[in-house]
Amino acid sequence: MNAYFNELNYSLANEDTSLEVNVLPDQSKHVLVAAGSGSRVTPLLAKNPEHITVVDLAKQQLYLTQLRVETIRNFQRDEFLSFWGYPSREMNPETRKKYFMELNLEAEAKEYFINLFDSHNWQGIVYNGKWEKTFNFISRVFQLLIGKNKIDQLFQCRNMEEQQQYLQSNFYGLGYRLTVGLLGNAKFFNTFLYKGHFVKKNMPIGYYDFYNSTFRKVLSLCPARENYFINLILRGTLDFPEGLPIECDEDVFHKTKQALNTTTISYELGNILDVAQKVPPIDLISFSDVPSYFSGDIEKSYLQKIRPYIAADGLVTLRYYLRIPENTDKNGFDDVTSDYATAIAKEKTQSYNIEILKKIA
Ligand SMILES: C[S@@+](CC[C@H](N)C(=O)[O-])C[C@H]1O[C@@H](n2cnc3c(N)ncnc32)[C@H](O)[C@@H]1O
Repeated sequence: MNAYFNELNYSLANEDTSLEVNVLPDQSKHVLVAAGSGSRVTPLLAKNPEHITVVDLAKQQLYLTQLRVETIRNFQRDEFLSFWGYPSREMNPETRKKYFMELNLEAEAKEYFINLFDSHNWQGIVYNGKWEKTFNFISRVFQLLIGKNKIDQLFQCRNMEEQQQYLQSNFYGLGYRLTVGLLGNAKFFNTFLYKGHFVKKNMPIGYYDFYNSTFRKVLSLCPARENYFINLILRGTLDFPEGLPIECDEDVFHKTKQALNTTTISYELGNILDVAQKVPPIDLISFSDVPSYFSGDIEKSYLQKIRPYIAADGLVTLRYYLRIPENTDKNGFDDVTSDYATAIAKEKTQSYNIEILKKIA
């Protein structure tokens, strides 16, 4: 198994889970979801499923999901935002510690977070994942090579017309091209983040073209200040209340909190393919981009392995990052991706090829 996935790699969100929320039908019985930071899990509660099984290879990602769940259950939205380190209100370290100590977490998770928070003076931990730290570094290179002022001005644009004009005349110059060229490639990510386990690209596009077109698509969606992902890439932090991931959305937060009165959640450490076999029937499997890391027999047969454990008409959401699994046997599934074209077009990271499959009953 990939040795990269055994640490605190994700603490915020590098996928926009509004897509999976859109795909999940209301009041489904059972969802199986890869944890990541946990922020790709909790918004699904807004659809009020009966049970969620959360799975990950890394126990740290499961702990973080538990912490998200317990903070939503116990805190009001403004407390939740400031506990994690989102804008706009600061929470002082003593208050954060007091709030944390009152949470009901399993002993191992509690000990893990006491150590983590202690080593960061009880600051918010939303930027503590290795992925978030790497993107903070990337933002500093962008600021150095493009100029901090130019980036700050981009985030002052209030509508798309203003933003497109600003981008054309001020932004896509040498500094931009140098940063994308230097940092947008496997060598950089393998050296600084994935330690040799970066995804093995098989999409027929060069790295520069991929990252350049992703960047431009992201900036064509909405004003930069409203997109958390471009905030992370160019500023390294989220500074605008209007540019936060979906877990922070007022309506989603309240529905999630409400659902915690009824939805049950279990946590499984292990491979999503093995766990799927233990917990049928499943109405939605939210895979993240896990299949991009499959190879050999598994990439061919993984859908057939899990098919018996999926409910009739059950859905599978797949995100492919630079690598589309080869020769995958999709027998017994309908490709329903086009039903979700609008949600896919609005997805805030635009970094994935997305495929949605439905089991043929
Ligand atoms: C695949 S990662 C997201 C990756 C990220 N979007 C990227 O660009 O690399 C999401 C979560 O899946 C977990 N994961 C990876 N492979 C897994 C597997 N086979 N079974 C269960 N969880 C897995 C990781 O530990 C991580 O927390």
